[in-house]
Amino acid sequence: MAPSSRSGKQLKPAMKKGASAVPPSPGEALASPAARRVTPKQRTNSVATPSVASRKRLKVALVGFGTVGRSVAKLLSLDPNGPLLLTHICNRNIEKKRVDWVPDRVRWTENIEDLLSSDSDVIVELVGGLQPAGDWIRRALRAGKSVVTANKLLIAESGPELLKLARDTGQHIEFGASVAGGIPAIVAIQEGLAGDRLSKIEGILNGTCNFILTQMEANGASFAEALKEAQERGFAEANPRDDIEGFDARAKLVILTQAGLRLQVRSDQIPCAPISTVEAVDFIYAREIDCTIRQISLAQKESGAGRVNLFAAVRPALIPAQSLLAHVQGSQNMVIATGEFVGQIVLSGYGAGGDPTAVAVMSDLHAILRRSTVPPERQVSPGAPLQIPHTVSGEFTVPHYLRFVVRDRPGIVAEVASILSKYHIGIDALLQRPGYPRSALPFTMTLESCSSEVLAHALAEVGRLDFHVQPLLCLPILQG
Ligand SMILES: NC(=O)c1ccc[n+]([C@@H]2O[C@H](COP(=O)([O-])OP(=O)(O)OC[C@H]3O[C@@H](n4cnc5c(N)ncnc54)[C@H](OP(=O)(O)O)[C@@H]3O)[C@@H](O)[C@H]2O)c1
Repeated sequence: MAPSSRSGKQLKPAMKKGASAVPPSPGEALASPAARRVTPKQRTNSVATPSVASRKRLKVALVGFGTVGRSVAKLLSLDPNGPLLLTHICNRNIEKKRVDWVPDRVRWTENIEDLLSSDSDVIVELVGGLQPAGDWIRRALRAGKSVVTANKLLIAESGPELLKLARDTGQHIEFGASVAGGIPAIVAIQEGLAGDRLSKIEGILNGTCNFILTQMEANGASFAEALKEAQERGFAEANPRDDIEGFDARAKLVILTQAGLRLQVRSDQIPCAPISTVEAVDFIYAREIDCTIRQISLAQKESGAGRVNLFAAVRPALIPAQSLLAHVQGSQNMVIATGEFVGQIVLSGYGAGGDPTAVAVMSDLHAILRRSTVPPERQVSPGAPLQIPHTVSGEFTVPHYLRFVVRDRPGIVAEVASILSKYHIGIDALLQRPGYPRSALPFTMTLESCSSEVLAHALAEVGRLDFHVQPLLCLPILQG
């Protein structure tokens, strides 16, 4: 134990700008290499700093008493004599939120200032959204408090900046709950796989979309029917746009790309496509080629000639029916990381919900407690420094699936084939099942591997032909 911990008094030293008395956390390893060097001055500070663990307790103030916040308060209340002590609960309209199972000593408040000016060690932010959560987190760090958050939107938008602020103020910010809920994806990738060089992260990162697609697959339900059921069963929000359009999964992919591929990327650089274009008939045709359909988030790093390029996208895709991703059912998530030496590592489980997500928050609190017992000079930060990729592209060269719904007439296939051939795109197979009216006849084509950018040009031409009853659907066929 560091000599400082024997004094057993206050947690936080008076911090000067640029002097970090708290060792870097895995989260903070996203910061620059210079940021992770321990200076003699920092060592001096650390010797004078009593650790949290010396007091055996971490005082935890919670803001946001909703789905996840309630579960976190429940877990914190399970062990009133444990090392994590719940001190405050902050939410708007607090009188409507009060419950009797929280210990009496906990202070209920509507005023964030009560938390910021308190002697709490950590603020747990479970409000969500960019603001006011972002300001509260920045103020908490400046007030000398560490932060735990599940806020994927905020971390995807401002993760590196918040990590730098945490480092500059000598605090920790942890966000293990922001990706895949109860699955310890960030810690596994960032700490467990720190010894490898990861080249690819893919997965199913949105339980709502996976629930809808697996309902369509199992019951032949339409997208609208499956969405309604997801809403009735609490798997989808009243406004499911962020899930359906892929924005939620994209925010998580940004965080995983930074944590695992060590590439700094913005959400708006990663293309995403909605799952609402997928219809029940697509599962029938997918099955004919031994595939199924899932919303796949994929980030792949390619290095060469001194440059690093990132290929990343979130969209519905065909994947082999026997693949691991195809076996992910209902609201479950899966993350697959591929390393140069370790090969594939698979993590799966419940990626959302109050209790699973609360477990990730609790684990982050324990990590802060644990790290505070190790002096800075003994800490090793996992992960290489972050790089900015030379290019970020959603263009993959893969086989594709096309679904047309047409007013039938002779010559349709020949016209489509002629345009595809002009772009040097080969047709692999043509599938047409009986039993549909000629006025709205679905048929599908699978294409040989081609660049999605070239294909987009060809499909723009195909889309102008006169027989379409509805826009054609194009999905990539991935390895899974
Ligand atoms: N739910 C999940 O499965 C899950 C999984 C992973 C990550 N997360 C993340 O966890 C965070 C919380 O999610 P959640 O599902 O628990 O959300 P939630 O159920 O909507 O809870 C948010 C809580 O914050 C309160 N709140 C919102 N704005 C506030 C403000 N300006 N001032 C004071 N209180 C405010 C809300 O009060 P009202 O009740 O009055 O609105 C509510 O009690 C989000 O960042 C989310 O992305 C959630």
